[in-house]
Amino acid sequence: MDILTSKQNGILTIEFNRPDKKNAITSAMYQTMADAIKDGEEDQAVRVILFCGKPEVFSAGNDLEDFMNAKEDLADRPVAQFLRNLSMASKPVIAAVSGMAIGIGVTMLLHCDQIYAAEDTKFSMPFAKLGLCPEFGSSKLLPEMIGYNHAAELLFFGESFSAEQAFDMGLINKVLPSADLMVYAYAQAAKLVVLPASSLRTTKRLMKARYADVVIEQMIEENRHFSAMLQSPEAKEAFIAFFERRKPDFSKFS
Ligand code: COA
Repeated sequence: MDILTSKQNGILTIEFNRPDKKNAITSAMYQTMADAIKDGEEDQAVRVILFCGKPEVFSAGNDLEDFMNAKEDLADRPVAQFLRNLSMASKPVIAAVSGMAIGIGVTMLLHCDQIYAAEDTKFSMPFAKLGLCPEFGSSKLLPEMIGYNHAAELLFFGESFSAEQAFDMGLINKVLPSADLMVYAYAQAAKLVVLPASSLRTTKRLMKARYADVVIEQMIEENRHFSAMLQSPEAKEAFIAFFERRKPDFSKFS
């Protein structure tokens, strides 16, 4: 199973479990996560949703082979269902991140309520490097969270940045020694489990109300561009270069 789910003590844990491929996310994995969130929302016993990966990697982002073979519009793919369910989740969502978080491995964090990262975590959003553009609300949420200049730096250059930098920019809540990450994340989740669920739901809804519709609109606009760019020669070159383990050559594209 590339995604493991478990429910215990009011916490639904959704865990990336494809370490041989650096937890790159396939359509089947998005579908499993979309279904798990829906189930968690409907199950009254679940009070908190917690995402985690492996100590060495949270996720290397979308599976690039899936991207290469993508034909249909992004909005019709399981990834869109996953992000819709995540962004509209009424229950608190925590992410415990370690190792690497790349591409959608970062985008999804922008829809979580609390993000804790191990001190060795490296984040990156290399969309431009792949001939793509930001996705699923990140072009709206990221500047909102960390300011335009920081967002532009992360999205233009796509270079990796540390947990400490992510914390300083206001992207994540806390940096922890690797060994303490999951203990802390579960302890925080446990605190939320015993609070009045309706208060947490209303608090979350009130905070998100200001930009909920705007984010949905932005997702539609981003998806339109992203779907077209997935078929572009620049993106094809970037994907092929990755699997051929060479640097992409964009010099022939204007
Ligand atoms: N999609 C598909 N396969 C991926 C992948 C991805 N996003 N990321 C890693 N893999 C696969 C590799 O192809 C490799 O498979 P193989 O063993 O069958 O050859 C395996 O995972 C291990 O990856 P490898 O590149 O050998 O590990 P590394 O430690 O040298 O580098 C990364 C790890 C994550 C830095 C590197 O794999 C990478 O840059 N991945 C792509 C990240 C990316 O661009 N994601 C999309 C963002 S939109």
